[in-house]
This record gives sequence, C-alpha cells and structure tokens, in this order.
Amino acid sequence: MKIFIDTANVEEIRKATNWGVIDGVTTNPSLVAKEGREFTELIREVISIIDGPISVEVISTDVEGMIKEAVELSEWSSNIVVKIPMIPEGLKAVKVLSAKKIKTNVTLVFSVNQALLAAKARATYVSTFVGRLDDIGHEGMQIVREMVEIFNIYDFSTEVIAASIRHPMHVIEAAKAGAHVATIPFTVIEKMFKHPLTDIGLKRFLEDWKKVESRD
Ligand code: G3P
Repeated sequence: MKIFIDTANVEEIRKATNWGVIDGVTTNPSLVAKEGREFTELIREVISIIDGPISVEVISTDVEGMIKEAVELSEWSSNIVVKIPMIPEGLKAVKVLSAKKIKTNVTLVFSVNQALLAAKARATYVSTFVGRLDDIGHEGMQIVREMVEIFNIYDFSTEVIAASIRHPMHVIEAAKAGAHVATIPFTVIEKMFKHPLTDIGLKRFLEDWKKVESRD
C-alpha cells in the first residue's frame, strides 16, 4: 500500500519525505486555505519537495472549467494529479482528461456506485472519505473493501485511495482492505511511529552499552 500525506503544509511534507516513507501528497481546497499562502507558489514548492503524485483540486464545477484548470495544473509538473469532484460534470471531465493522459483523482466518493462510475470514466484514483462516513454512523472502510473487490474482479486500473483517515487503526484497516493508497494526515503518520516499548527498549540498550568496554 502506498502512503500519501494528506496536507498542504510544506514543513510536514518535507519532514515526512525525509523519513523516506511517503509516496505522494494529496491536498484539497480546505487544506490549501489553512496555509494562508498564495496557491501557485505553494503548489510549486510542494512539487520541488517530493517526486511522486501530488493531488491538487479544481474549483470549477462545470466541465469546461474543470478541463481548463486541469490542463493548466498538469503543465506545472508530470507529478500533478487533478482532483475532480464526484459529480456528473466531473466524470465528463475525467473521461476527456484521461484521453489527454492527464491523471485524475475523483474525490468526495462516499459509495461503491460512485466509485464504479469513476472507474468507468477512467479515473486514475478514487478517494473515499472513510472518516467522514464513520462520522455519520456508517463503516467507511466497508466501502473501501467493496471497491477493491469490484475493481479486482473487473481488472480496473483505477486505484483506491482511503482518505479522511483519522487514526492509526484506519491505516491498518485500509491495508487489510487492499487499498492501493492511504492518504494520511501528518499527525497520524507520527503516531504510526510510536510505541512505548520501542522507547523503553532503546533507552535500556543505550544505558547497557555504556557498561561495555571500548575496544579502542
Ligand atoms: O483530502 C481529503 C480527505 O482526506 C479529507 O479528510 O479529515 O477533512 O475528512 P477530512
């Protein structure tokens, strides 16, 4: 399973990239707005940090507008993946963009039917918002499981992204579900590193090592 970082914060992207565990980045308009920076400059900085897929979302909701934005964004780097909302106009745009070899990530997917349509339109990725489904009393990961199962049966090339990940258990569940990608907030990636027994064990090893006579 590939791990993307779900943020528009360049410091978080830099840190996680340096850890060597990150395959790509996903952003959305809310994450970009949180940074309070000029959009083009921000995305260009992200492009300079990581060599992997970087999802950037369009804000148009009509097919012509989405295609125009997507073509412009894709010219910034071959790593740009254009995030398109899961609406009929969006899927029309995805079909056109796929013929132009522009990578797409259909976002705001909350059902298997929506995912199936996105795959038929030849989306590169579909993003299912697991946490937001959990929030309203559904089991978000079940949608991911069913999407993976169906995509495998029909050999769709569309990759399933488990998004809206809220905690480390979501990451494990996404991996067990066979998600191609989990896109994870920085704070959750940090939590994935942590185990108290690791810290206690390392402390003890280093203390014991002081008792070892040096060979020099
Ligand atoms: O980037 C899309 C998704 O991961 C958003 O997550 O936490 O706002 O539901 P969240």
